Amino acid sequence: MSQQIDHLLNEDRRFAPRPEFAENAVAGPGIYDAAKADRLGFWAEQSRELLHWHKPFTNVLDWTSPPFAKWFDDGQLNVAYNCLDRHVEAGNGDRVAIHFEGEPGDSRSITYAELTDEVKRVANVLQSFGVGQGDRVAIYLPMIPEAIASLLAVARLGAAHSVVFGGFSADSLRARIDDAGAKVVITADGGYRKGKPSALKPAVDQALSDRGEGEQATVEKVLVVKRTEQDVEWTEGRDVWWNDVVPDASADHEAEAFDAENPLFILYTSGTTGKPKGILHTSGGYLTQAAFTHRNVFDLHPESDVYWCTADIGWITGHSYVAYGPLANGATQVLYEGTPDFPNPGRWWDVIEKYGVTIFYTAPTAVRSFMKQGREIPQQRDLSSLRLLGSVGEPINPEAWMWFRDVIGGSVSPVVDTWWQTETGAIMISALPGVTETKPGSAQVAMPGISIDVVDEKGEAVGNDAGGLLVVTEPWPSMLRGIWGDPDRFVETYWKMFQDKGYYFAGDGARLDEDGDIWLLGRVDDVMNVSGHRLSTAEIESSLVAHEATAEAAVVGANDETTGQAVVAFVILKESFLKEHSAEGLANTLRTWVGEQIGPIARPRDVYIVGELPKTRSGKIMRRLLRDVAEGREVGDTQTLADTAVMSVISAQVR
Ligand code: PRX
Repeated sequence: MSQQIDHLLNEDRRFAPRPEFAENAVAGPGIYDAAKADRLGFWAEQSRELLHWHKPFTNVLDWTSPPFAKWFDDGQLNVAYNCLDRHVEAGNGDRVAIHFEGEPGDSRSITYAELTDEVKRVANVLQSFGVGQGDRVAIYLPMIPEAIASLLAVARLGAAHSVVFGGFSADSLRARIDDAGAKVVITADGGYRKGKPSALKPAVDQALSDRGEGEQATVEKVLVVKRTEQDVEWTEGRDVWWNDVVPDASADHEAEAFDAENPLFILYTSGTTGKPKGILHTSGGYLTQAAFTHRNVFDLHPESDVYWCTADIGWITGHSYVAYGPLANGATQVLYEGTPDFPNPGRWWDVIEKYGVTIFYTAPTAVRSFMKQGREIPQQRDLSSLRLLGSVGEPINPEAWMWFRDVIGGSVSPVVDTWWQTETGAIMISALPGVTETKPGSAQVAMPGISIDVVDEKGEAVGNDAGGLLVVTEPWPSMLRGIWGDPDRFVETYWKMFQDKGYYFAGDGARLDEDGDIWLLGRVDDVMNVSGHRLSTAEIESSLVAHEATAEAAVVGANDETTGQAVVAFVILKESFLKEHSAEGLANTLRTWVGEQIGPIARPRDVYIVGELPKTRSGKIMRRLLRDVAEGREVGDTQTLADTAVMSVISAQVR
């Protein structure tokens, strides 16, 4: 089957950088040429400029046994020293590193000097547990400052962390602890969510209990942060209260230098089938690209900006753009513990107003849920401090992009749509805010020093004004170094498809427009084939969201006798529209609308008005489950859903 993906939706709005923004921007237009002239030299220079190397590197890239890359491999550094001590030594110890906002309303501001001391104490405690280079530490914590301190303490010791998102069950936690062979788990009694304390420690207890024959628990110690004061069960000899040992530990701890390729972390990401993949990232290359992209994409001015990324530390975005990127750059950031709508639907906007947030990085799913509630809520707050907005995780539909820019960004803040993956470690495609003329809905161009193309199934470039498969054509500093314990699966999953060309295949479909700008079209597994036309989910969803009644939409291809597959849409309406119109009438209106906007080929056969969409815990729509409903099958495995009840509600609504 041809991998060409048809393009049907047109978007011609353009936003040039404002001169006053461009004048002070970190990245200037020359950056692309500099990177093109000498790609490896460019990365070497970035790395030397942005990081402190205990032992400077002389090698930049070793690509002698692809796809196993080594970057800066004769150099040595300490990742935590780069994120902490050196800022204090440079006289910025009094700068706030973290403004922490707890969900119940408690807050504290932590300076770089304080965070450095805390991390040294935690490192000393972990060292007393026997943690050192080569060990793994599992981290299962809410979004509290101790989470960031834990990551950095593990990194400081040259050990690797494996953060497990706090919303995962005991079974998932167990699988991840066992796969990584973790020696220590850092957790908390619980955290606050939707106004209530939600427990974490019981899941750890369960994950470590009841091992079958031959199964050995590798975990020797469990360090427990007291956050909610809930009662917890206690295993003597194994469990230790953070609050008992960390404050008393010494704040002297020398940061040792480790090789650039020393493992920094494992982060599990679910594959389409089988057990989760432990994506492995190492130190020097990862930190270089995390710091570089954070500085340039978000136009970070560390002395004046207040940055907020809403991602949980359990996801890659939380690793690269809450922990490592911002701290390596000496940024001041907000860390918020809870849900966006507690105790009121405007809580996020309250946080922005309270701390004067200037740079705000979030996910399209959040933007669309705010669209659903209506613009009145953010408009009741003063959001004038914002000067830059970022999006990540899914294609952002042009209409959501425009809403974000206008309602949240006061019609002046540039919006950068950043494409990347757990596997890529850091941003790969994005506009640069002082340089790029932005287009709503397009991720736009490869970062300087990054080589991206869109190709057909043979690996041939499709050229401008055509769609196909998104590939990375050259190794990049923050690329995954493998799948933990499974080199074959690493090669098979990402490199097999274009082995002879040495391309990394990302699994996403994309289109180059007539200017060569990149538009993400969704996962290729989700592409539909209607009467021989390959249609992307992203475009039809964008068209639906462009209608004034729609807040969010998911589109799937369902088997159809006449057309092969037919477009089936699941739509969430804005609250204001639900009050005034019948669902049936709106469904017909939307079918016609898509037919007119894109063309009859894309007109949905069915439009179902639903209250919720099935999403993973990181907010991605699970179209596979909707396909089951659309084809009248029993709904498949719902384990990775954030809310497993959603599918029964949708099935009932559809019936
Ligand atoms: O399909 C792409 C989508 O998210 C996938 C990666 O997911 P994950 O590893 O969880 O990392 C998410 C945070 C980096 C990609 O293969 N994706 C991510 N960002 C975008 C996107 N799709 C379209 N536009 C984006 N900006």
